[in-house]
Amino acid sequence: MERRVAVLIVFAVGVSSLHAVDHTLDSVWEDWKSLHGKEYTQDSEGQRRMIWEENHRFIQQHNLEEAQGKHSYKLGMNQFGDLTDQEFRETMLGLDMSSVDVSSLPVWNGTVLHTPEQVDWRKQGYVTPVKDQGTCNSCWAFSSTGALEGQMFKKTRRLVSLSEQNLIDCSRCYGNRGCEGGLMDNAFRYIRDKGGIASESSYPYTAEDTMLCRYSESQRAASCKGYKILPEGENALRKALVYVGPISVSVNSSLHTFKFYESGIYFHRKCSKSPDHALLAVGYGKSIDEPDTSSRAKHPYKFWILKNSWGTRWGEGGYMRLARDRRNHCGIGIFSVYPEV
Ligand SMILES: *[C@@H]1O[C@H](CO)[C@@H](O)[C@H](O)[C@H]1NC(C)=O
Ligand SMILES: *[C@@H]1O[C@H](CO)[C@@H](O)[C@H](O)[C@H]1NC(C)=O
Repeated sequence: MERRVAVLIVFAVGVSSLHAVDHTLDSVWEDWKSLHGKEYTQDSEGQRRMIWEENHRFIQQHNLEEAQGKHSYKLGMNQFGDLTDQEFRETMLGLDMSSVDVSSLPVWNGTVLHTPEQVDWRKQGYVTPVKDQGTCNSCWAFSSTGALEGQMFKKTRRLVSLSEQNLIDCSRCYGNRGCEGGLMDNAFRYIRDKGGIASESSYPYTAEDTMLCRYSESQRAASCKGYKILPEGENALRKALVYVGPISVSVNSSLHTFKFYESGIYFHRKCSKSPDHALLAVGYGKSIDEPDTSSRAKHPYKFWILKNSWGTRWGEGGYMRLARDRRNHCGIGIFSVYPEV
């Protein structure tokens, strides 16, 4: 495994060094660095610039093709522009499905006969503003707080942002590994047993493994009685979204195009169905114009609305519309869970 990582890095650097610096991009590079607060040592700047240029070219090319109708979504340069795919995977994801035995978890068995054409819980006040996990594999914590924030709102009509750092610092005994990954069901079990979770404001996010749990009961801003996982598949997810509210979901986010997604309905035929990243599904819908049958394969028109935790500069203000009813695209519907309050 380590050998493979080394080979990949050498490969990335090797490819990059084929190109000389493109000086026509100097001001674009400088603007990008200052927008994202990037500072490098003299030694590392050259290599980071090369990676960024590769990504820049890739994005331009994709958007050119998008304008010709070849893709259903656009890409955009963002804070990940100076990372190789490998570096990105190591720091920006964090769903660890390797230890989960889904068959042992309590399953949602609700029956919903009719589902509307579209649902968007953001419009009903269920969803806090988009957050940013920083360089910490804590997506699982953000997905968990997002689902609990929604269920608490449903119950109390008050929307309170909840603490991911609380989960990172305190849920290790439940199988989570802080900034090295975790699972939402573990987080909900921790909250259930502990009797609560702190608010974001009383226990702020630092994107660090402190190894020190600082939760006290006086900080309690929400609690849960347990959790349910959904039966596998997009039908159950759609029904639960209608009946329950926002749901913690998981997808594979490792593709280059996912990292630089900017707008549109994401669909990449190579997207893996093995999830490595957790998000929050807040709704679903479909585009106004349905493509004709011949272009439908390339142009999905139904979508899930997913809240990510990579800040508002990624995607559509921090959200992605992901192709829906395309055989669990990117693994959506494979592992979905919500807390019971
Ligand atoms: C769903 O599960 C609960 C227990 O978890 C049970 O009481 C209920 O009867 C089940 N409903 C259906 C429709 O199977
Ligand atoms: C996610 O997809 C990538 C390829 O796109 C693959 O290498 C990786 O193993 C997948 N993640 C998991 C957890 O299977």
